[in-house]
Formats: sequence, C-alpha cells, structure tokens
Amino acid sequence: MIIGYLGKNSQFRFFCRLARGLPPAGAVRKATRRQGGYHPPMFSYRHAFHAGNHADVLKHTVLIAVLRHMVQKDAALTVFDTHAGAGLYRLDGDYAQTSAEAAEGFLKLVAAKPAEPFAPLLQDYLDLVAGFNKQGSHKVYPGSPFIIHQVIRERDRDKLKLFEIHPTDTKTLTANIAQLEAGRQIAILREDGFEGIKKFLPPPSRRALVFCDPSYELKTDYGRTVVMVADALQRFVTGTYAVWYPIIPRPEAHDLPKKLKTLANRAGKSWLGVTLTIKSSKLLQDDAGEVIRPGLPASGMFIINPPHTLKVGLQKAMPQLVELLKQDANATFTVESGG
Ligand SMILES: C[S@@+](CC[C@H](N)C(=O)[O-])C[C@H]1O[C@@H](n2cnc3c(N)ncnc32)[C@H](O)[C@@H]1O
Repeated sequence: MIIGYLGKNSQFRFFCRLARGLPPAGAVRKATRRQGGYHPPMFSYRHAFHAGNHADVLKHTVLIAVLRHMVQKDAALTVFDTHAGAGLYRLDGDYAQTSAEAAEGFLKLVAAKPAEPFAPLLQDYLDLVAGFNKQGSHKVYPGSPFIIHQVIRERDRDKLKLFEIHPTDTKTLTANIAQLEAGRQIAILREDGFEGIKKFLPPPSRRALVFCDPSYELKTDYGRTVVMVADALQRFVTGTYAVWYPIIPRPEAHDLPKKLKTLANRAGKSWLGVTLTIKSSKLLQDDAGEVIRPGLPASGMFIINPPHTLKVGLQKAMPQLVELLKQDANATFTVESGG
C-alpha cells in the first residue's frame, strides 16, 4: 500500500484514472501541428512510448536508492526533477503498446523467476511500482515525479520542484499531480529545466537531489547537461546530482559521462557511474534483407556526491539485472566510482 488514504483497489482505480488522462496518439499529433511556437524537433519525444523500458528500470532503481538514503537524515531535503515527463503512464495504453519497450524492461523483470531472490535495490523498485497497481497487475507505471513523491517525506513535499517544457506533458503532469493529496504543495514549472534550476540553487534546505533526465532528442541536450551541472556545482557544490544518458554510437553520448567525471574531480567531489547494456548496438537484417534497428541498447547514470551505500547496492543488483534483461551475449554492466 503506497498511499495511505486509499484502499488497494480504489488506489489502483485512482492511478488507472490518472494514467488514462494521457491523450491518444492521434490527439498528440494534432496538438503538435497546432502549436507552431514550440521547439519543433522536440515534439516527437514522448516518454509514454518508453515508460518502463530497460533505461527506466536502471534510472528509477538508482533514483529510489539515492532518495532512500537521503531521506534517512533528519534535515530537510529539496528534490529537483529537471525533465519530469507526464508523471504516470499506462503500460497497456496506445503509446506503450505501440513501442512495446516495457516488455524488454519492467515487464520482463517482473515476470522473471530469478534463481536467487531479487537484490534489495531491485526488490525495492519492483515493490514501489507494484504499489501503483492492483495485485498481480502491471498496467500503471510511475514516472520520476511520482516515484520521488512516493519516497520523500511528507514534510519535504513542498520542496519538490518538477520542470517540464512540453505543453501536453505539462498539462497531463499537472492533472496527475493535482489529484494527489500533496498536489498543491508540489511546484510544476513549465519551463526549461536546464535554465530554470539556476534560480533555486543553493536551496534553503542546503540538502538537495538534482535528477536530470533529458530526452537527448536534441543533440544540444548533451552539452546543456554538462553546462547545467558545471553551473550548479559552482552554486551548490554539496548537492547530489544524478544524470541519465543513453549509450549510443554518437560522440556526444560517449563524452557526457567523461565530462561529468571531470567536473566532479575538479570540484573535489565523489562520483559513481553505472551502465546497463542489454544487447548489441549493431544494425541487423531480417530475412527479407530489411534493416532492423536494435532500439536503445544501453544507458547509464552518473551521480555526483552519491550516497556511500549506492555502490555496494548496485554491485549486488547489476549482475542480476543483466542476467534477467539480457538479449544477447553483449549484455553487461559497469559500476565505477571515484573522487
Ligand atoms: C526522458 S523524459 C522524462 C522522464 C521522467 N524523468 C521519468 O523518469 O519518468 C524527458 C522529458 O523532458 C521534457 N523536456 C525536454 N526538454 C526539456 C527542457 N529543456 N526542460 C524541461 N523539460 C524538457 C520532455 O518533454 C520529456 O517529457
């Protein structure tokens, strides 16, 4: 049970209702054409297509683990989600069914019968997602805003700040959050998260997590992530920064964790990098000679000022995650730390 004021079944109906608030794919395409003022290349990225994929499994497992540690200290905690998305997703909805990405991620994990019990970080992730669903059902998938809301303490909910720039996702996120008891306390900012965060740093609480999860659909997102973290470290060097990035054959993607590592080392701060690869990135051909794109093969999280418990937790979780999500012999993981 994750929300105290709702019973298990009504809680399930509650989250289904919220998640159903996502517009059908056709409506999104219409909205895209109508709103000419918005940055055009960004329009095609909708996280609803990707919800629950292997990248979400990695990033949300790490997000939960980082937050669990941070809420143990008595001091107030501020959380920034610079790229929040819509907040809740239906895995049986139009978007998710079109891409079927959750089948390679969360749904595969939840259906797995591991030889050993799930590692604690994975069990915690699975339990948290299960709390949004009726027992045995896996229709609702929480995005980072709802995951964060779930883990932080009630008294810190007025210090949760969600940035989302896409008009449709902002609307859906606002509607979803509004129905939470703490809805009015949570700040939803329809603005550029890279820029918008500056005015909040350092936060009065002096303890904060900055979770940065861009879509990287624009090549400039890689550089903007580095600039944002560099600027944020100057304003607030003791903050914890958690950045997700895709591992794809593109120089900017390979450079991003290296640049973040350099920033952490220069600031004299500890860091942790974790990657998950589930398959080869090579293009394949089907029997008719058509090229099959493999989809996203791998992704990583880079954390500056990570909790000291994170490395050990990930060293237990990652071999199991690879074993359960692997699609070919290229599946692997790395966990590195320094500083
Ligand atoms: C990968 S999704 C976020 C998923 C979410 N963090 C989660 O884990 O559930 C990236 C989101 O960032 C939004 N976005 C893109 N550029 C942005 C920007 N500059 N500032 C804020 N949001 C942005 C996109 O509309 C999209 O919803």
